[in-house]
Amino acid sequence: MELSAIQKMTDDELVRLARVLKVPIASRTVKRSWLVEELSNTMEERKEKRADKPKKLPNPAVDIKGMSKRFGKTLAVDKLDLKVSPGEIVGLVGPNGAGKTTTLRVMTGIIKPNGGEVSVGGHDIQKSPIQAKDLIGYIPEKPTCYPSLTVREYLMFMGRIYDVPNEETLVRMSHYLDMFQLRVHLDDYIGTLSKGNLQRTLLVGIFVREPPFVLAFDEPIYGLDPRGAWSLKAHLHDLKKEGSAILVSTHILEVAERLCDRFVIMNDAKVVGRGTLKELLNESTRATNLEEVFLELTGGIPE
Ligand SMILES: Nc1ncnc2c1ncn2[C@@H]1O[C@H](COP(=O)(O)OP(=O)(O)OP(=O)(O)O)[C@@H](O)[C@H]1O
Ligand SMILES: [Mg+2]
Repeated sequence: MELSAIQKMTDDELVRLARVLKVPIASRTVKRSWLVEELSNTMEERKEKRADKPKKLPNPAVDIKGMSKRFGKTLAVDKLDLKVSPGEIVGLVGPNGAGKTTTLRVMTGIIKPNGGEVSVGGHDIQKSPIQAKDLIGYIPEKPTCYPSLTVREYLMFMGRIYDVPNEETLVRMSHYLDMFQLRVHLDDYIGTLSKGNLQRTLLVGIFVREPPFVLAFDEPIYGLDPRGAWSLKAHLHDLKKEGSAILVSTHILEVAERLCDRFVIMNDAKVVGRGTLKELLNESTRATNLEEVFLELTGGIPE
């Protein structure tokens, strides 16, 4: 991605990148094409020096075994088994209150389960939370974020806390700002963003990091306009091809049907169906699409 991403950067961004890379811009009349090439070569050299080991996720990348979570008298998740492999998108679907958000919050280490095991990237989320969380990209059901940072400050901050070299953050940031049409909001305070733009900011905040990721997205399409939704779906497909492991909870079954490789259907804290759409349809006598499978497994298809 690097060279083409650098080519698309604005002049201001190129100057900022040159400053980070300490590439001297001797004259005001330096040619853009020269600068792009110089920056790209410098980044390449730096990368070779760092000699980063390419990250690869183990299989399964997410391994949840017999996980239960209780809130007082409510059993929110009952002995859930769920695996996600690198290179697949799994859809977690189910009616309101089925336990989807709770599952994602346990998987990302935000809340503790009452029983069972959860490992992410081969790391137990309770025993090695830092290693596990380093791989996780989480979009919560109700996105919140630092209201007094600007979008630019937040994205640079995300790069820094995940140890991304500044120059890499700048190039990726430019690329994903374009992809999610966020550039006009770069200097807006996060507290002033619309819901969809906040969601886009959180997405770019994940994508400035080094893939592959273990993504836990809670209703990521809801809240995005059609163009935003399209960009996200296309990018999730690319990330999957590169070896990310993706778990998406969603109610929008038309989206799920096209986006996900297989499904885990929850109802009332339990898994009531799992498999590819084809497998689920084969098991059903009446259903002809995911919506009907969903209805059948979660209370019956209304007459
Ligand atoms: N922090 C909490 N305290 C008490 N009960 C909770 C808490 N979080 C979730 N629950 C309960 O756990 C159950 C599962 O909730 P969860 O949010 O996981 O469902 P969901 O499948 O994400 O639903 P939705 O489709 O509405 O987002 C519900 O009965 C809910 O009321
Ligand atoms: Mg939920």
